[in-house]
Amino acid sequence: MCASALSARYRTAFVTGASTGLGRAFADMLLADGVEVWGTARDVSRLPVRDRFHAIALELGDGAGAVNIFHEAEKAAGGFDLVINNAGFGAFGSFVQTDYAVWEEQLRMMLVNTARLSHTALRGMLARRHGALVNISSIAAEFALPYQAGYNITKAGLSALNESLMYELKDTGVIVIDFRPGDYRTDFEGSVRRPVPDATVAVDTARMERAWGGFVAMMRTGPPPDHAAASLRRALRRGRSGTVRSGRFFQAVLGPLLARCGSLALRRKVLEKYFDL
Ligand SMILES: NC(=O)c1ccc[n+]([C@@H]2O[C@H](COP(=O)([O-])OP(=O)(O)OC[C@H]3O[C@@H](n4cnc5c(N)ncnc54)[C@H](OP(=O)(O)O)[C@@H]3O)[C@@H](O)[C@H]2O)c1
Repeated sequence: MCASALSARYRTAFVTGASTGLGRAFADMLLADGVEVWGTARDVSRLPVRDRFHAIALELGDGAGAVNIFHEAEKAAGGFDLVINNAGFGAFGSFVQTDYAVWEEQLRMMLVNTARLSHTALRGMLARRHGALVNISSIAAEFALPYQAGYNITKAGLSALNESLMYELKDTGVIVIDFRPGDYRTDFEGSVRRPVPDATVAVDTARMERAWGGFVAMMRTGPPPDHAAASLRRALRRGRSGTVRSGRFFQAVLGPLLARCGSLALRRKVLEKYFDL
């Protein structure tokens, strides 16, 4: 471990969704840097058994339960210097044709309860005037994914929360990172739910399948999760609030740059072309 290790600034970390994908890579990166990590999954048997790693069962669909579990872990840790709200899932389908309960569950878990955990975590950090909150948003906050309305809402909302917090927490000793990954090769694609549609609502299925094809192709060709962990590590070492786009060059750099120069209508046209809509 070198002198520039993150443990010089962050002694303890809480990471949701640490069983697979990006969350697992974030936890591994922190452990390698000497940080003690409390990592969550719904089923603890999916979490690694390692030194300085504490496995915690947490269902983010239950907001009050998640807050209680966080408080217990916070007590055991003597406070968290770093909290990464990463847990999430995708749901693909026509907004109208899909049972609204699916969207409601996604909003509750990934936006409402993630905001609630942020609120809880920040109280502890502010009391100590030290800490970093990282909320894992997505490139979808800027470039809405077709047929993933719930996901787009949650990520745009989460980025809006992060942006709000950056104003409020200036000069408090607490920083907020709005982390927006592009497509990464994780379990996400495999775990995206495709709920059984209501057949009485007519939609253009062929169009939807083309969008699904474009989405799967992007996920499968993305970089591995440790690439995202390396970019989060750089952001944490900078030690200041901000938006961090991470992923392949086009998604993390070129796309957002070009989008700033063009209109929203143009952005939609480009995405429609990509997804063959
Ligand atoms: N992969 C990408 O390309 C990409 C791009 C942009 C943003 N992101 C975001 O990055 C985050 C991680 O995604 P990933 O790609 O690493 O996905 P992943 O491999 O499917 O991992 C998702 C994690 O979330 C946990 N989780 C899922 N539902 C949960 C629930 N109801 N309660 C508690 N934990 C739950 C899972 O734990 P268990 O299933 O073990 O409980 C797992 O650890 C998500 O917020 C995602 O939106 C991913």
